Amino acid sequence: MPVSSVLRVSNLNRGFGSGVTRLEVLQGIDMEIQPGELVALMGPSGCGKSTLLNIIGGLLEADSGSISLAEFNYGMAHPKKLVDLRRRGVGWIFQDFHLLDHLSAKDNVALALELSGVPSDEAEAGAQSALDKVGLGDRSTHKPDELSGGQRQRVAIARAIAGSRPLLLADEPTGNLDIKSGEELLQLFHELCEKEGISILMVTHDPNLAAKANRMLLLRDGKVAASDIKEAWGKAVDIDQKESAGGET
Ligand SMILES: Nc1ncnc2c1ncn2[C@@H]1O[C@H](COP(=O)(O)OP(=O)(O)OP(=O)(O)O)[C@@H](O)[C@H]1O
Ligand SMILES: [Mg+2]
Repeated sequence: MPVSSVLRVSNLNRGFGSGVTRLEVLQGIDMEIQPGELVALMGPSGCGKSTLLNIIGGLLEADSGSISLAEFNYGMAHPKKLVDLRRRGVGWIFQDFHLLDHLSAKDNVALALELSGVPSDEAEAGAQSALDKVGLGDRSTHKPDELSGGQRQRVAIARAIAGSRPLLLADEPTGNLDIKSGEELLQLFHELCEKEGISILMVTHDPNLAAKANRMLLLRDGKVAASDIKEAWGKAVDIDQKESAGGET
């Protein structure tokens, strides 16, 4: 029953190194994300979560397999128009925010838009509207050190959603936040998914946050081992007793 997925990853493989030190990290990843879905990606350290995000974000090439994201098709080769993918395809959110300290919240967001080719007056307006969407409309002139950790992460989210990208990639976005700010961030993610129709793929090590996503994927042995929360929890618990069936697709 394929609806039009915003993201479809097919049989993606990626390893590092050669000879005896060769490490096969991703070994046939298949996954899809629908518009407006918040999906949590979990798995042990070193299993390839960041590698997968980097390939989806067009920062790293796969060894084989393919990705389609909105109108972009890529995988083994970097998309020809990588700038376009960054501008219109994916926004990134990182654990440590990556904001410029000497710029206001609004200028941090506007600069990113300008770098992607948006004229400066449009960028200003786009930045303000993105800050409004994350509930920081009244903090637009504050610099990062005048904001709390949770507010800084919201500025980073405003920057990622400015320019109406269909997919946000978030690599441990709550890693530097306290529990309450982490939960607020999840609430904001849900609002963005519901109101703006954005899809979010979020890596987290926190099972409580993952349980609040619409769906959880478990990356294990180079494959996506489960694709819904109950199934994933079942497998996470019995993982050594049961052979993974590979999850539903
Ligand atoms: N550029 C690289 N060169 C060689 N090996 C790499 C490279 N990038 C990642 N790896 C290896 O690939 C594996 C997966 O790394 P990755 O960073 O994707 O894991 P992760 O699931 O994000 O882990 P964590 O939860 O600790 O962030 C690791 O064994 C890592 O050492
Ligand atoms: Mg990682």
